[in-house]
Amino acid sequence: MNMNSHLELLSGNKRWALSKLQDDPNYFKKLQAIQRPEYLWIGCSDSRVPANEVTNTAPGDIFVHRNIANMVVHTDMNLLSVLDYAVTVLKVKHVIVCGHYGCGGVKAAMESLSFGFVDSWLRNIKDVYVKYFKELEAISDKEARADRLVELNVIEQVRNLAKTKIVQRAWRNDELKVHGWVYGLNDGIIKNLELVFDDVENIDSIYRYNNLQGNEQL
Ligand code: CO
Repeated sequence: MNMNSHLELLSGNKRWALSKLQDDPNYFKKLQAIQRPEYLWIGCSDSRVPANEVTNTAPGDIFVHRNIANMVVHTDMNLLSVLDYAVTVLKVKHVIVCGHYGCGGVKAAMESLSFGFVDSWLRNIKDVYVKYFKELEAISDKEARADRLVELNVIEQVRNLAKTKIVQRAWRNDELKVHGWVYGLNDGIIKNLELVFDDVENIDSIYRYNNLQGNEQL
């Protein structure tokens, strides 16, 4: 085992910074001046799904939040802070939940096994499984069932975003679209689930806040 492999990251960084400057001597000066991304990406922590690389975008283009299995959990202060900052302050135009086929978090949630501390996080995916139990149990192939759960999980996380006051308040004041996508590890292609939420009509009325003014505490 090479205990100094992390040094390769630092030397790689130097080569990258140099190549950027060779292309454009003002590259970092321009980026430093302002951050105005149009997109918030909520993706999986999986090392094989880097937001910028798979969308062919550059630093400055996407505000990113990643966790295991791209979850939107309403008690997650980290997610809520990122979401509120992106939507309310940066005023991103699109929030994208991007799952990926072959997601280890989703597969683990389908097992009746403990994987340690992550179990309570994965329980949120088990709830999605139970919600779509009939549809999922009808799929005999285990891989295909996992892939469908990946898609359904993305759909539910888009719904979870729509249930937040942050997103509902943005819908009242600004234009904001929430999208559901799934990335394919096998071919590098993102499947658009054609799921676009842009107002509270997309969620059940019990989840709607009818008294938002725009300046209340979250
Ligand atoms: Co994953």
